[in-house]
Amino acid sequence: MWPQSTAHAYASTMTVTPCRPLPFQKSIYNSKRVKNIRNVRSFGEVRAQSVEALSGSRNKSSGGCSGFPADRPFIRSNKMEGEAGKIRVMVTGGTGLVGKAIERVLQEEGGARDGETWIFLSSKDANLMDAAETKAVFQKHRPTHVIHLAAMVGGLFKNMRLNLSFWRNNIYINDNVLHKAHEFGVQKVVSCLSTCIFPDKTTYPIDETMIHSGPPHESNFGYSYAKRMIDVHNRAYFNQYGRKYTAVIPTNVFGPHDNFNIEDGHVLPGLIHKTYIAQKEGTALQVWGSGRPRRQFIYSLDLARLLLWVLREYDEVEPIILSVEEKDEVSIKEAADAVVEALGFKGEVVYDTSKADGQFKKTASNSKLRKYLPDFSFTPFNKAVKETCDWFVANYDIARK
Ligand SMILES: NC(=O)c1ccc[n+]([C@@H]2O[C@H](COP(=O)([O-])OP(=O)(O)OC[C@H]3O[C@@H](n4cnc5c(N)ncnc54)[C@H](OP(=O)(O)O)[C@@H]3O)[C@@H](O)[C@H]2O)c1
Repeated sequence: MWPQSTAHAYASTMTVTPCRPLPFQKSIYNSKRVKNIRNVRSFGEVRAQSVEALSGSRNKSSGGCSGFPADRPFIRSNKMEGEAGKIRVMVTGGTGLVGKAIERVLQEEGGARDGETWIFLSSKDANLMDAAETKAVFQKHRPTHVIHLAAMVGGLFKNMRLNLSFWRNNIYINDNVLHKAHEFGVQKVVSCLSTCIFPDKTTYPIDETMIHSGPPHESNFGYSYAKRMIDVHNRAYFNQYGRKYTAVIPTNVFGPHDNFNIEDGHVLPGLIHKTYIAQKEGTALQVWGSGRPRRQFIYSLDLARLLLWVLREYDEVEPIILSVEEKDEVSIKEAADAVVEALGFKGEVVYDTSKADGQFKKTASNSKLRKYLPDFSFTPFNKAVKETCDWFVANYDIARK
């Protein structure tokens, strides 16, 4: 079971959980597993969490990653440059679903390297919609690298209600973060787009070249256009200043520390919460919509592993889709079935077709990812759902809901 984690708790009590053997892990990180975490230096504050040199004694004979041909460009060169001990990675949105997953991968899977400092920010450290607060946080932490996750995020129904807020908030956050990164000389920024920002009317599978090829689905146009502008920022910073700022495009993310709010969260955490309540109260499970729309889900821990690879090895400005295979797309009904099984729910399941379905599908191609990482293995969907349900049940009191 994963620990109930506030940073404070694990900083003071961290003993090393042996890493799960992950087939791709040695290949991606080329590092030994974390044996201890004694050299965590500055975890004092929950608000700004700094992981100093999470031990991960790295095999420095880079280039010999098992499982990968030696001539792959991302193996030959380590794109994450910086003097040893001087790499400071600041994660905006570090307290959210994806930020927490990165933190866990760094702690438990040898994902951190000697000399790296990791700083995980919450909105309490700086409201990134505010330029002065954004400047102050860059001034304070002086990052060399940024993983930019902070965003106004929500599910279908929250998006439908608040398109203007999604547009304005995310535009401000992204402009502030990217521009301060540039002004403070940050070497690399990895931002997060989403497959739900692609054109509504399109051919499938969608790929990285199609982001701007037509209007997004009307349910989330505010979020979508704001996210698309990150790609515009990245291209413009490269054209004008040669900056290598890039973005990843994940599909639907889920995992521990998700937002399990039924009204405002994403479909899978919402289903988990509703099933939990239905089970407790002995009522039917109401699934919103027909259950027919299809989605590719990515487990937050898999996304975290891939984000570390992107930060260190991926050298393009153009974004990259991070997704399971097309054949692994599941219907909302199949997702509900997985939740029902994971929680052992025995009651009736009802599909409420008076509720919106949203975009029918967004099937994305991961062929670009597969060219770089042919051997990366994603956590099986049912296993990831089970782990997420277990986390939710064990952490019900502290979970966002
Ligand atoms: N979840 C998905 O299915 C999904 C899919 C594709 C892409 N993405 C993208 O992945 C990234 C991470 O998403 P997530 O699911 O981890 O989000 P999340 O769990 O909702 O977390 C959002 C994070 O952003 C921070 N934040 C929000 N507004 C802020 C502000 N004004 N100033 C500073 N920080 C702010 C939050 O801080 P507090 O904790 O202090 O509120 C939190 O750390 C986002 O860019 C999102 O668009 C998500």
